[in-house]
Amino acid sequence: MNLIEEIEKRKTFAIISHPDAGKTTLTEKFLLFGGAIQTAGAVKNNKIKKTATSDFMEIEKQRGISVATSVMGFEYKNKLINLLDTPGHKDFAEDTYRTLTAVDSVILVIDCVKGVETQTEKLMEVCRMRNTPVIVFINKCDLEGQDPFSLLDELEEKLGIQVRPMTWPIGIGATFKGVYNLNHKNVNLFQSDKTKISKNIISISNIEDTKLDELVGNEAGRLREDVELIEGVYDELSEEAYLNGDIAPVYFGSAVNNFGIQEMLDQFIGIAPKPKGRETDIGIIEPTREKFSGFVFKIHANLDPNHRDRIAFLRVCSGKFERNKFFHHVRLGKKLRFANPTSFMAKNKSLIDEAFPGDVIGLYDTGNFKIGDTMTEGDNFTFKGIPSFSPEIFKEVVNTDPLKSKQLEKGISQLTEEGVAQLFSARMGNKKYIGTVGELQFEVIQYRLKHEYNASCTFHPMNFYKACWFTSSNKEMLAEFIRLKSNYIVHDKDENLVFLAQTQGVLRITQDNYPDISFHFTSEFKNKN
Ligand code: G4P
Repeated sequence: MNLIEEIEKRKTFAIISHPDAGKTTLTEKFLLFGGAIQTAGAVKNNKIKKTATSDFMEIEKQRGISVATSVMGFEYKNKLINLLDTPGHKDFAEDTYRTLTAVDSVILVIDCVKGVETQTEKLMEVCRMRNTPVIVFINKCDLEGQDPFSLLDELEEKLGIQVRPMTWPIGIGATFKGVYNLNHKNVNLFQSDKTKISKNIISISNIEDTKLDELVGNEAGRLREDVELIEGVYDELSEEAYLNGDIAPVYFGSAVNNFGIQEMLDQFIGIAPKPKGRETDIGIIEPTREKFSGFVFKIHANLDPNHRDRIAFLRVCSGKFERNKFFHHVRLGKKLRFANPTSFMAKNKSLIDEAFPGDVIGLYDTGNFKIGDTMTEGDNFTFKGIPSFSPEIFKEVVNTDPLKSKQLEKGISQLTEEGVAQLFSARMGNKKYIGTVGELQFEVIQYRLKHEYNASCTFHPMNFYKACWFTSSNKEMLAEFIRLKSNYIVHDKDENLVFLAQTQGVLRITQDNYPDISFHFTSEFKNKN
């Protein structure tokens, strides 16, 4: 196959959701459809249990498993699907945000009982920043959920995206029987089977068919009314609007019962984007460009303390990656080649000789990579779009073993390079602040510092509301701001200046007092907030 055919064959996406909405269950059903696993249950262990905030052995064990399952490749109807896993725990949301930079589209899972939840809104904000096409799956229709029409309204209101239902639930809760496919105008009534793909499908080609009344009783009349209303209210799905991230097709179903999933997967195969061009500091690099390029969006530490190597996850963006060929590490200006690059097929890792745009490969790293690094075939451009977001919790690092200061410094620096948390350093003196989106990371850092670096520290909570990167063309105002606020201005990992605002009020007053300074809540300034 030539490069264009390889690109056409691939779809790279992530499933995202508020914890517990059913992401893991849906992932599993996709793998079943793709033939990558035979029975459900295989992916489940990848989840860090929500209650186990202090059970580090569990975390460590699961981190090990998640290397293999971080990317799940499988074939479905002649397409090569790369499903990138995102952590279920909300404290690892930053990891999810970064993973979203490496996909071409997402499937957003909503729990029909709970509707749009906080984490869902945040994830959608990230998708909107880069106009990522979104398909919505409304899950758990076997439970007494909200009315489907009000769920659609809530999606539009809270997520700021237009929606178009593609399937419709037949009954809800105890009376849920399956879904009507608004696109093909047919009904598939599935037999519920939680562990396998049921072959037992009753198909009805026409909604008016009286067979429907026999099968679903009273629900048939309600379905016909709903469908009439939908056809009257919602426009046909415009593929272009979907690809621009302006409209989201919506599917209803029940992941655990295998209802409504195949409809979604089949349409996903048809409309989800193939690997797209990506922005760099010299413009868009198209996947069809002959020369290889890619970027690192995730780094995973080796769990074995005797082997300090790590795995860098690289998304191939253009050309062909080849094993043992020298490529150019742009930030370091260094030639590197990889003897053991791996791909990830569902449950196991395997050595690969080549990879194409849309693929994610694992590169063994002895400390050359930072998140956001670009690899090329000699070019000197850098991929954009792997921003840091403002953390929500800030703490100062307090060294509790002065004899191990060096180890602590190295540990903190390496762990933050891996993206476990963000590091902010005072411009004068030695103060270091760690910023995260959840408390769990502080425990993870402490544990890993002790076990991997033999260093120990405690954390002193800081009352900061947000980290703001700032820019201004008014040099005088900028200099005055930096001088007067020096106690609150720190450096991030790339030596950018960051203002730590104590409260929302302080931030507002500062914005009023310094009208020529722009404050940004992500490190990527073009995405103004
Ligand atoms: P997550 O990855 O988004 O966090 O969610 P996950 O798939 O783990 O699902 C969360 C819970 O919701 C699980 O129950 C799962 O079985 C259940 N679930 C998923 N899809 C459906 C559905 O369509 N209907 C219903 N009623 N439940 C669903 P759990 O009790 O946490 O785990 P388990 O003991 O069932 O494995």
